[in-house]
Amino acid sequence: MNVLSVASEIYPLIKTGGLADVVGALPLALKEHGVHTRTLIPGYPAVMRAVRDTSACLHYEDLLGHVATILEAHHEGLDLLILDAPSLFDRPGGPYLDSNGQEYGDNWRRFAALSRAGADIALGAIETWRPDLVHVHDWQTGLLPAYLRYSGKPAPPSLMTIHNIAFQGRFGVDIFPHLDLPPDAYSIEGIEYWGGIGYLKAGVQAATAVSTVSPTYADEILTGEFGMGMEGVLASRAGDLHGIVNGIDAEVWNPERDPLIKANYGATSLKSRGKNKQAVVERFGLEQDNGLLFCVVSRLTGQKGMDLLAECADGIVAQGGRLAVLGTGEPWLEDAFRHAAAHHPGRIAIITGYDEPLSHLMQAGSDAILIPSRFEPCGLTQLYGLRYGCIPVVTRTGGLNDTIIDANPAALAAKVATGVSFAPTTTDGLRRAIARTFRLYANQKAWLGMQKQGMKSDVSWDKSASLYAQLYSMLKTKDR
Ligand code: ADP
Ligand code: GLC
Repeated sequence: MNVLSVASEIYPLIKTGGLADVVGALPLALKEHGVHTRTLIPGYPAVMRAVRDTSACLHYEDLLGHVATILEAHHEGLDLLILDAPSLFDRPGGPYLDSNGQEYGDNWRRFAALSRAGADIALGAIETWRPDLVHVHDWQTGLLPAYLRYSGKPAPPSLMTIHNIAFQGRFGVDIFPHLDLPPDAYSIEGIEYWGGIGYLKAGVQAATAVSTVSPTYADEILTGEFGMGMEGVLASRAGDLHGIVNGIDAEVWNPERDPLIKANYGATSLKSRGKNKQAVVERFGLEQDNGLLFCVVSRLTGQKGMDLLAECADGIVAQGGRLAVLGTGEPWLEDAFRHAAAHHPGRIAIITGYDEPLSHLMQAGSDAILIPSRFEPCGLTQLYGLRYGCIPVVTRTGGLNDTIIDANPAALAAKVATGVSFAPTTTDGLRRAIARTFRLYANQKAWLGMQKQGMKSDVSWDKSASLYAQLYSMLKTKDR
């Protein structure tokens, strides 16, 4: 089966979060299931610099008002289609924000153009290749299923995956005339959303099926508490809503061979983690001791519960622990951790910024990773933690709920515990979970057992890739 995947990020070319990891890893995992994926991505500068030997396969004089070319390229096992439209994507900032951290004012046009090009390819614009199914990711590609529906032409089935419902791509109705959609598309069954235009809503409405990145999140987004205004639209599609948990690239994230860490190790050589711990401690300028080292590798945002953690920082130090934070995000949260670090030199430290190699070292050297998210569609850092023997301390929500087995007495007795999971998502809840983590750490035998159990968990893409392959086949058959 041929699948066109369309997304705004892909690892290893351009990444701001877990979306890129998933979009980069899934095509490789699907190969074994007879699925050939081509991924359409924007030609950001980082992408154009990295790819070699491109060839043009489609040209536009006027793609929603812009000159554009679709380039074919291969990169590290990925089969890419690149939307080379310099006036839309050749900019010095990030994929969504300019160099000053402000959203580009024309994001609606940039990602409408991506969706439009994807729809054209789905409808056969590249003569030599036509997909059997289109898989789109998040709001940036939400218009694609709408373009297919309103083209009036026979189109392949589409799957819309929601990686995070907090980002919905909402714009004013004034952009409508520029989207090149027929008037009836601006309707409740179409792209209208709370009096404006919603890209994610458009995708949920028009796609053949909808999925999200864990079974628990698939249930949660049907509720007012987690649906963020989309719960009604999703309820109308509940019969076509699927939850498939993310996997990780077990080659990129393999402590036995990872070139980005100080000392390689496996489940039977966990002692060697010590060298990585020392390296993390040195890198962050923390004091050396044998106590518990917590880490955070995260966007510093309310979603990730980072405000709750900032309030618990003193308690970590009071119990003899240390905390190393790697992240960027909301300035007041960065400040909160800077403040905690200044208050507890040698015990708490923060490195602000995005540092992929350091994130590997932190998983390999920290004892536990804190993920107190208010909501978490899937979460990947707890999966890296499992694979690296870095015990995840997580809230009981979304994908965190589906991937971590709490160290309660029954799970410990049955030797199946892999982390610490807590509810409710409050400062007190987190405080109790941290205290419980200290108690578990004091029992080195139980701790080692959890590390080994985590390292045995199957966090690869094998199972989930097969679920996607089944879903693709089902949609293709249903479509006939
Ligand atoms: P989200 O996509 O919501 O941010 P995920 O847990 O799914 O959360 O994915 C986050 C990804 O980004 C992981 O691969 C994580 O290691 C990485 N990451 C987050 N912040 C940083 C950072 N400051 N430096 C390096 N990697 C980071
Ligand atoms: C989003 C979610 C995260 C998920 C990632 C990949 O960024 O916040 O939970 O793991 O997408 O699906």
